[in-house]
Amino acid sequence: MTSVSVRDRAPKLRHYLMCRPVHFDVNYAINPWMDPAKPVDTELALLQWDTLYDLYRSLGHRVDLLNPLPGLPDMVFAANGATVVDGKVLGARFLNAERSAEAPAHRTWYRANGFTDVHEPKYVNEAEGDFAVTDSWILAGRGFRCTPEGHQEAQEFFGRPVISLELVDPRFYHLDTALAVLDGDEVMYYPEAFTRGSRDVLARLFPDALLVDQDDANVLGLNAVSDGLNVILPEAAQKLAEQLRRRGFRPVGIDLSELLKGGGSVKCCTQELRF
Ligand code: ARG
Repeated sequence: MTSVSVRDRAPKLRHYLMCRPVHFDVNYAINPWMDPAKPVDTELALLQWDTLYDLYRSLGHRVDLLNPLPGLPDMVFAANGATVVDGKVLGARFLNAERSAEAPAHRTWYRANGFTDVHEPKYVNEAEGDFAVTDSWILAGRGFRCTPEGHQEAQEFFGRPVISLELVDPRFYHLDTALAVLDGDEVMYYPEAFTRGSRDVLARLFPDALLVDQDDANVLGLNAVSDGLNVILPEAAQKLAEQLRRRGFRPVGIDLSELLKGGGSVKCCTQELRF
């Protein structure tokens, strides 16, 4: 695995949905990263977000935009609004009331854009915050947000095997803060974010996974987006960038420090539409 060179890696064009942080703020705390007493620079958040948006487009990816709604400061974290696999849309149901109105906004966007199979879930799931799609499985986090019932509901809706993984560290409250899909069935993760049993499951399914250390996990280095070659990740995750390079990926570091105050980074801002 470590001998793969850049030449062997091939980027696939992706389709993303994002939401500009026009109303971004931290005025409540639903994860340990959020401190309402700390000032947020919304202008800077917009500039940083624009860099990410421009980067995706320069790589040839399609990015659609969701209309940002006032009163929903976390709406920039579009990954939490829906999960799209095989063109089927599993809506979200947020655990916290502060974010619940984001879910219908996403479903409305999908219906308006020609998606016919849109499911409004019965159980809590925060979409790609807790679901990571590999070629063979849907990996699903639980412990903080998504529930086991939510995992079950996703398996039933998509007809794909859902692998339930338990998160243990409140700083890594969503699966996408602790694990990322690099390509096909290739993943990277921070083992300490999971229970013993879930770590064993990951080791069994992904013996060649890239293991990420605490320093890189602590800057949300795992909140990354890969197109199969380019891996967009927080620029502070320096060691991780080197590990990725050695595996034949092309890491692209980006500074989303303002959005980190909300507890999110690259992946949280990026919902992927899969067909
Ligand atoms: N403040 C948001 C929350 O706690 C951040 C969500 C980050 N999104 C993600 N996909 N991890 O819900």
